[in-house]
Amino acid sequence: MIKGIIFDLDGVLVSTDEMHYQAWKRLAGELGITAFTRADNERQRGVSRMASLEVVLEKSDKVYNEEEKIALAEKKNGYYLELLEHMDDSAVLEGVKNVLQFLKDKGYLLAVGSASKNAPAILEKTGLMPYLDKVSCGLDTTKSKPDPEVFLVAAKKLGLPPEECLVVEDSKAGIEAAKAGLMRSLGVGPFYQTLGADFCAEALCKVQNWEEVLL
Ligand code: BG6
Ligand code: MG
Repeated sequence: MIKGIIFDLDGVLVSTDEMHYQAWKRLAGELGITAFTRADNERQRGVSRMASLEVVLEKSDKVYNEEEKIALAEKKNGYYLELLEHMDDSAVLEGVKNVLQFLKDKGYLLAVGSASKNAPAILEKTGLMPYLDKVSCGLDTTKSKPDPEVFLVAAKKLGLPPEECLVVEDSKAGIEAAKAGLMRSLGVGPFYQTLGADFCAEALCKVQNWEEVLL
């Protein structure tokens, strides 16, 4: 029986996925990588900042050392933060606050399980924090999805065993992480039909069968 729900942040609760893409595209341009595409960006969905950087650098002839890679990741984050500067609750995806309130009223514990180190700041800016019992993010973990670490930390913070948690994700890496952590999964977002989740819907606000999903 499901008692807690762990939501990915980018692409599930908020529309930051486009801003990640714009920031990586800007960095790629500066590095002379013109072949960085939206298809490449799809492979960055859900994975950590450093793992995302590797996707960009695959298209570069130059070899970067660890120190240089850290500097490049920081640079991208600077561009991303510029885009986040004017963020407010309009970045929250359609119907998300209603769904969170509905689930909260039903007594479910709610958490975020996100690879992003910017998750706490985004949750504050968008007014989502009051809906959540716990947050597990890139600041709490060392392993990137598809490793289940970020979700296991979330479950632990909620005080629940993994099998009593549902993970909501928009990325393949995230669904694999949920499965690896022995958690039930709900896939949403533009690729919901191909994520391999236990349940799926186009968006959080389009889930019709919550009773079945949470049984
Ligand atoms: C995930 C995004 O939520 O967070 C990834 O889907 C991103 O694209 C990752 O790379 C890390 O985010 P941040 O904010 O710590 O750079
Ligand atoms: Mg996501």
